Amino acid sequence: MYDLLSRRKKAVENVQKIQGRSAQDLFLRCGVGCLDSGRACLFRAETRGRRYERKIVYAGSWRNGNKGGETMMKTVAVLVASDSCFNGEREDKSGKAIVEIMKAANYKIESYDVVSDDLTAISAKLNEYVNREINLVLTTGGTGFSPRDNMPEATKAVIDREAPGIAEAIRFSSFAITKKAMLSRAVSGIKDKTLIINLPGSEKAVRESIDVILSPVEHGLDILLGLAHNCGENVK
Ligand code: MTE
Repeated sequence: MYDLLSRRKKAVENVQKIQGRSAQDLFLRCGVGCLDSGRACLFRAETRGRRYERKIVYAGSWRNGNKGGETMMKTVAVLVASDSCFNGEREDKSGKAIVEIMKAANYKIESYDVVSDDLTAISAKLNEYVNREINLVLTTGGTGFSPRDNMPEATKAVIDREAPGIAEAIRFSSFAITKKAMLSRAVSGIKDKTLIINLPGSEKAVRESIDVILSPVEHGLDILLGLAHNCGENVK
């Protein structure tokens, strides 16, 4: 059985082959900058003053219960809710960061959209993703206290089953970084075969949040899509 540590170790050894550096050195350094989705590792390492990023995709071949098998590439839609981005007054950075992270994690980006903060515009897009059977929807923006922050309400209008643990985990882990994390009213839940997760609005917040949820969300999607069973076994 391969656990997360041995998967990372193997991936680091692969990085070492490419970089010609000591695997042990990289492994010690990769802790903070290693993003592991269960099918890909994204390393951000700094060695002797030089920064580099390397993605190792191992798409299922080392996964418990799925060794050597083909894995389905899951689809993701990224939805940015922001009046200023929609009106062209500001460039979207957080949605693009999600796209970059999810590509690195071996998801297929099925849609990337920028809508205004209107509740109806947001929920119409979310319903469209559900109808297109997109596996995962990651939203950014509109979770705070501004009168135009409608993302939680729009999401609640679409989902039929809440998955509150995901939003709670984001708030919990973010709280260690900023007490303002408690101001996010983000929700997460399921409609049919689509999981919708609200992330906060800034690029910084997105990067801080997404790393925490990626691996469990991958497992949750496997269950939702009927690709995984017996989830009490081999839990890490
Ligand atoms: N979470 C993390 N990880 N990092 C942050 O900087 N900012 C908070 C919070 N969550 C933040 C965070 C702030 S300042 C607000 S107001 C809420 O997210 C809501 O942000 P939103 O309205 O842009 O969605």
